[in-house]
Amino acid sequence: MNLTIALLPGDGIGPEVTAQAIKCLHAVGETFGHEFNFVEAPVGAKAIDKTGDPLPDTTLQLCKDSDAVLFGAIGDPKYDNDPNSKIRPEQGLLRLRKELGLFSNIRPVKVFPTLIDKSPLKKKFIKGTDFIIYRELTGGIYFGEKTLSDDGTVASDTCTYSEAEISQIAHMAFKAAKSRRKKITLVDKANVLESSRLWRKVVTKIGESYPEISLDFLFIDNAAMQLVLNPSQFDVILTSNMFGDILSDEGSAIGGSIGLLPSASVGEKYALFEPIHGSYPQAKGKDIANPIASILSAAMLLDHFDLDEESRALVIAVLKSMKNDIVTPDLYKNSKYGTNVVGDFISSNIRESDDHLTINRENIWLGKSTII
Ligand code: IPM
Ligand code: MN
Repeated sequence: MNLTIALLPGDGIGPEVTAQAIKCLHAVGETFGHEFNFVEAPVGAKAIDKTGDPLPDTTLQLCKDSDAVLFGAIGDPKYDNDPNSKIRPEQGLLRLRKELGLFSNIRPVKVFPTLIDKSPLKKKFIKGTDFIIYRELTGGIYFGEKTLSDDGTVASDTCTYSEAEISQIAHMAFKAAKSRRKKITLVDKANVLESSRLWRKVVTKIGESYPEISLDFLFIDNAAMQLVLNPSQFDVILTSNMFGDILSDEGSAIGGSIGLLPSASVGEKYALFEPIHGSYPQAKGKDIANPIASILSAAMLLDHFDLDEESRALVIAVLKSMKNDIVTPDLYKNSKYGTNVVGDFISSNIRESDDHLTINRENIWLGKSTII
């Protein structure tokens, strides 16, 4: 397969982590006979500095002309701390999602057995956690009408959903549940919000055409609690844009680090792959950021093109790095390994995949083959 991938590294640690995902995709390409061509373009704060626009037209056009988008991270503290700033890096990502019609954001949350001790939660509560969030991504309060009174003292954000918007993501979630444990939990606030009541009505109706899938409902406040009390009860969580944003960050803590969770944002025509974490500006350039979320986002990219064996090889290489504690300091406090070394280790494992490998830790530092 020959794929052209728009590479949008973005801000903060985005460039460092996507660089590791690229290494891994090249390793997959060499091993399995595919060609991945990356074409880079600016987005976010970097694009504002260059062009005044967080999503320049040329960047958007490149994404539309490519087979997929590999995205790093977006955001810069110089904008976060200025409530009056009219242009923000995040607008670039939101516009990109909207323009590409990426209505479905898919965020798998898994507790990796080898990392279970890294979780701040007790092992007995989180064992077996393996769920996937289907977050609506191009509607709701993120994109509704926003107002600010002339004197700047009253503001509003509107949450609007149509039946069509709800049903397109709901169908994706039901289809996903079919090949999983066949359970969907719709998370909403239907005791208060009219838009949530519409979600319940539409999703219940769609559920009738998937009789093998069990559907239940949880209010967002209860869901936030259940996620730490008993996360293994969930299979597919279906929810709106804002609730999905919040629950996925919460979900990332279960596994021990937000640096582990990948995501895929998919529409009818385009697909974008990005870690769920932000730009983590404090870590920028320090070679400490965890590249696994970006690397696993690359695995989701491979899945998207039905390259199942290739994706599996990448995931197995990631698991090996975890098993051997070749991970960044967010997971293993005294770890000597940085972003780059972890990326090198994972990519070399793809090339030389051998289940009985022995690791030469010296060679990791020398950039030589790590498998002996
Ligand atoms: C995410 C991020 C974005 C969001 C921000 C950067 C706009 O938090 O992808 O979860 O809120 O969707
Ligand atoms: Mn978020």
